[in-house]
Amino acid sequence: MNLKTSMIQSTEKTDFIKWNPSYKTGIPVIDEQHEHLVNLCNDFYKNLLTNKGTDEYKKLVKETLDTCVKYAATHFQEEEKLMIASNFSGYNEHKHSHDVFKEKCQDTCFNIDDISVAEAIKFAKFLYEWIHNHIAHEDKLYIPTLKKFLQERASK
Ligand SMILES: [Fe+2]
Repeated sequence: MNLKTSMIQSTEKTDFIKWNPSYKTGIPVIDEQHEHLVNLCNDFYKNLLTNKGTDEYKKLVKETLDTCVKYAATHFQEEEKLMIASNFSGYNEHKHSHDVFKEKCQDTCFNIDDISVAEAIKFAKFLYEWIHNHIAHEDKLYIPTLKKFLQERASK
């Protein structure tokens, strides 16, 4: 089953992104933030699928998307600080990936009042795929460097 199939099949009954132990980096502060980010992405998607047509719908969708995007930015700052402090060689590439994602999210947040539910769902799928791929692959690259740095810092 590919990513898209599993995502579509799981949307009605379960969380949009199922937290998977394989996402873990083994760095507690990062893992806690990743899990929280996944939960916020799920909140946004759940609000997108429920309460359609109610007065509160747009407000809830907007608020949950905004919370998710703001938290992602805070989390990226934390990661970037650690990557700089540990001299991670892939910092520039990783930061670029964060920046491109943030820009796309900010544009969507800005235009959320004018986009259709179908477009918002398309964006939610983009969020899911990006977060999934980033946590499962790109974030894994800094683990050895960050772990070594944090261990050395703790032993001083
Ligand atoms: Fe990252």
